[in-house]
Amino acid sequence: MKGVILAGGLGTRLYPLTKVTNKHLLPVYDKPMIFYPIRSLINAGIHDILLVTGGNNAGDFLRLIGNGKDFGLAHINYTYQQGEGGIAEALRLAEYWSAGDRICVILGDNIIEKNIAKAVESYRRQEKGAKILLKEVPDPERFGVPILEGDRVVGIEEKPKKPRSRYAVTGIYLFDGRVFEIIRTLKPSERGELEITDVNNAYIARGELTWDILDGWWTDAGTFESLRKATNLVAETGANRLD
Ligand code: DAU
Repeated sequence: MKGVILAGGLGTRLYPLTKVTNKHLLPVYDKPMIFYPIRSLINAGIHDILLVTGGNNAGDFLRLIGNGKDFGLAHINYTYQQGEGGIAEALRLAEYWSAGDRICVILGDNIIEKNIAKAVESYRRQEKGAKILLKEVPDPERFGVPILEGDRVVGIEEKPKKPRSRYAVTGIYLFDGRVFEIIRTLKPSERGELEITDVNNAYIARGELTWDILDGWWTDAGTFESLRKATNLVAETGANRLD
């Protein structure tokens, strides 16, 4: 399985911190934000990684990460998203590189305490389709929120005013090679973006989406409040533990 880290977008919610640098290069406690999703993939046994970046400071990723040697990688791949057309638009850039293989996608601002190896392993055994990871949160209205019927996810609503469950869809997604066919059918949402939630809903409509609960704590880091929370969680308990 290959890994894709999405670190495009302009990080406008963190302005002026993101005026002269990319959001994913900002510090989360003692490391740049982008180190955490890289480590999450490596800890799950995924070493063939594509980093999608964007904005005015994309060259700084090269200076920071180089060929991935500091992470024990033989090499790392990069591509560039122009503008801020959404998570699914950024993912579309991985089509050529992934060459039909299954992919584990992680958003560049998602930080986890533990290891996703178990979920990756169970997805390897899944015949086809997609898998998402859910986490109970106090503020589901900030995220994609699953609608659950029994143990089935029957739909996902993006940032609903009245969330239909207490869960967030985390920014870790497992997709088969058909994800790019689905992306080609998408229309921009009200916020002008190709939404990853629409991709997941397309898999639900085909009856091909499974889900797990993510172990350990999880947070995004794309707002001042969540960036502070991420820093505190990492400082207090550490991130990307192997257990
Ligand atoms: O963090 C999980 C949430 O991420 C999910 O629950 C939501 O369903 C999903 O839509 C997303 O929500 P956000 O609105 O918080 O995503 P945001 O725009 O902050 O983008 C998250 C990351 O995705 C960002 O750090 C880099 C990448 N991205 C985003 C955009 C808009 C790109 O690579 N390109 C983009 O154009």
